[in-house]
Amino acid sequence: MENTEQLQKELTAEVTAAADMKALEELRVAILGKKGRITEMMKGLGAMPAEERKEAGKTLNILKSKVEEALESRKQVLEVQELNAKLADEKIDVTLPVRPEKQGRIHPVSKIFEEVTAIFGEMGFSVAEGPDIEDQFHNFNALNMPANHPARQMQDTFYIPNPDSEDKDDSFVVRTHTSPVQIRTMEKQQPPIRIIAPGRTYRSDYDATHTPMFHQVEGLVIGKDITMAHLKGCLYDFVKAFFELDNIPVRYRPSFFPFTEPSAEMDIGCLKSKNELKIGAGTDWLEILGCGMVHPNVLCAGGIDPDVYQGFAFGVGLDRLAMLKYGIPDLRTFFESDIRWLKHYGFVPLDISSMTGGLSNNGGAAR
Ligand code: DAH
Repeated sequence: MENTEQLQKELTAEVTAAADMKALEELRVAILGKKGRITEMMKGLGAMPAEERKEAGKTLNILKSKVEEALESRKQVLEVQELNAKLADEKIDVTLPVRPEKQGRIHPVSKIFEEVTAIFGEMGFSVAEGPDIEDQFHNFNALNMPANHPARQMQDTFYIPNPDSEDKDDSFVVRTHTSPVQIRTMEKQQPPIRIIAPGRTYRSDYDATHTPMFHQVEGLVIGKDITMAHLKGCLYDFVKAFFELDNIPVRYRPSFFPFTEPSAEMDIGCLKSKNELKIGAGTDWLEILGCGMVHPNVLCAGGIDPDVYQGFAFGVGLDRLAMLKYGIPDLRTFFESDIRWLKHYGFVPLDISSMTGGLSNNGGAAR
């Protein structure tokens, strides 16, 4: 048999010198593959006398495992080297200017999120969040909608099975509105509370003005002496700022929501003609949001004493606001990801919305 010590030296030297993963793999096959050098030597053991075979087998096994060790450690070194080379190669210089033909657009819904946050941020609201997948306690019960409440049927809810329970009341939902964030906020924080909660909401509905996933913003203000007058002032300032108008007729109609008492819907004045809708003037009205004084049961469910605190809440459909403000006729087009649509209705990324710098900046979709 060959001098195995010498052979081990030679083979490990070759392995350590392998320049890349490909060369290393070729070496592995040449040494340990079906017709590899060590494999062939192993095959030769059969022809040896029993006594010699035992000793030679042991020596070959040691040789084999030494070579395997060398292969493994070279592999680790090469992997790190290749990763570093790849990272260096893929480095992007983020300080380079955007190539005009590659510039993307901000989706109108994202723009509306920014605008609404800028307006309420200026009024001292902070942004709160909640999960898209909710339990029924937060989505319904705590909002004064116990099981079998008729308002639950109105919402065309998508239910998600609960793997831990067969009971229908324990199943999860994808939230049907942003109102559960009211409860989640109260659970975390005692008044004073002044938050908005923009986010995704879901209902089984599909036509030109409804999509299964849509967006809302919730508002919640709680303190010791918050009244309906605060609600009206706050929402009036909001619609003026949002539609970028100095003056806008508004009215409140009595309504019903289980989680507010009294409840109202806010309309804004507009002029509806055959092919046009002009906001802020005229004798027609457009419903724009739901609001009211937080129901004492809701305060209790959130762990807030209704004998000490009261407040107001509101909920607005953001997609509808985007359609109204930017004259987009069909909601379904929002979610088709058609690049031509995005180019037409989208916004330039660096036009950040702010109350001082301008909300929509160019007063409409960037063309
Ligand atoms: N959650 C209601 C809906 O989705 C909207 C709403 C109405 C929210 C009145 C409120 C509110 O906070 O006070 O239809």
